[in-house]
Amino acid sequence: MSRLVVASNRVPNPRGSQPQAGGLAVALSGALRRNGGLWFGWNGQLSQTAVSRPRMDQAEGIDYATLPLSKDDYDDFYLGYSNAVIWPVFHFNLGAMSYERRYSEAYARVNDLFADALAPLVEPDDVIWVHDYHLMPMARELRERGVRQRIGFFLHIPFPDYDVLRAMPGHRRLLEDLCRYDLLGFQTENDRHAFEESASRAVGALVETSGVVRHRNRRLRTGVYPVGVDVDELADLSRRTLTAPRVRRLLDGLGERDLVVGVDRLDYSKGLEQRLRAVEALLQDYPHRRGHTVMMQIASPSRSSISEYADLRQRLEGLAGHINGSYGDLDWAPIHYLNRTFARGSLMGLYRAARVGLVTPLRDGMNLVAKEFVTSQDPDNPGVLVLSELAGAAAELEDAILVNPYDVDAIAAAINAALAMPLPERRRRHQRMMNRLRENAIDVWEKRFLDDLHWHIA
Ligand code: ADP
Ligand code: F6P
Repeated sequence: MSRLVVASNRVPNPRGSQPQAGGLAVALSGALRRNGGLWFGWNGQLSQTAVSRPRMDQAEGIDYATLPLSKDDYDDFYLGYSNAVIWPVFHFNLGAMSYERRYSEAYARVNDLFADALAPLVEPDDVIWVHDYHLMPMARELRERGVRQRIGFFLHIPFPDYDVLRAMPGHRRLLEDLCRYDLLGFQTENDRHAFEESASRAVGALVETSGVVRHRNRRLRTGVYPVGVDVDELADLSRRTLTAPRVRRLLDGLGERDLVVGVDRLDYSKGLEQRLRAVEALLQDYPHRRGHTVMMQIASPSRSSISEYADLRQRLEGLAGHINGSYGDLDWAPIHYLNRTFARGSLMGLYRAARVGLVTPLRDGMNLVAKEFVTSQDPDNPGVLVLSELAGAAAELEDAILVNPYDVDAIAAAINAALAMPLPERRRRHQRMMNRLRENAIDVWEKRFLDDLHWHIA
């Protein structure tokens, strides 16, 4: 059997005690733990100068080869081109894009450096799976170094419409680079379609049939592989952790009050301001909810040296304080707002304790929190998911209450409806969503992608 080599910018520290917030790290940790393989990428640390020899490590059956980033590369590749250019544009937010020429230079430089470090580690029977927007040029870079093995790419974030993409400096080059893979995987049909449209309009690619694209003298496959969760593991974890001391303390503190929960990286794509304003609208428009509802919003800091992220954090703190100040009482604060990461067990227990999961991104590739929330519910008495129709997960979770994440009043009405939903309807919706989540569980995602990559057309 061939060895799986995974390359991603974000690689969790195999010996770290901190839980990793972020869909990619969570999904891949599970996938690699099941099958073993080599995980290559950034170790999350900074170095004085660029380092091109990876540090090798091993844990839980996974081999790790990781590098630090130099301060310049961290600023211009990670914060710059990856997260101040590609991230906002791919999330349809041109207003948040901030471009400098040195960002695209650093993007090229780091991909070149990573390819130098990865190419010597690749063995003849390996299959290479590159993840996410930081490393789009990796197939071309590896091919230029003589790597002939199959190389697939999976995009965890949305793919924007062409009219949005074409505002991004360097988009043609990235499309050309994506066409160098053997297989390109997307979260939803929408994303795949947007890629095909952009590749044909910007770099002359030809969509031969659905899922087969010709570019210059070669063909590549495209496919849709929605990232899933480990349904059995999470259901079990949430059952067990409902009795954990931290979750018990939370439940004791809540008493008879209804818990509404949100868990996200602190990112402007997650719709957090609109979400807090929706809670305010709920208290304003549905006064019987006052004193009886608690919103717990966990927002772990992310990319905090980018000004959009730092500014958002300030605004959210102001908003949470304002709502608590306006509506709170001596024994009740409507919003609990926490900026930290939690162990997975605590999160699953928290989801299970909640009556409503509020997942309202303005755009999201998939959103694993939505899937984790549904999986963690007690099937006999499940909570209700309120989900943005602009999250990739909405394509599968049609039995959530779907909302427009910009429409604060509609979100407030959805929370109210979720809290009032009768048990038979909650169970029916939960059952149907669980069926979908089992069909597309995390092992299915990985297997379908790797099967298609093995089967690729030359
Ligand atoms: P993204 O990849 O954009 O961060 P997802 O919802 O797809 O969004 O994935 C986030 C992942 O990170 C989920 O598995 C979630 O449980 C985890 N996560 C998010 N916030 C926290 C937190 N504060 N503590 C621990 N894990 C978190
Ligand atoms: O899933 C989207 C994603 O961007 C992942 O690629 C990334 O690992 C995660 O969110 C967290 O972001 P970062 O790696 O910048 O901390």
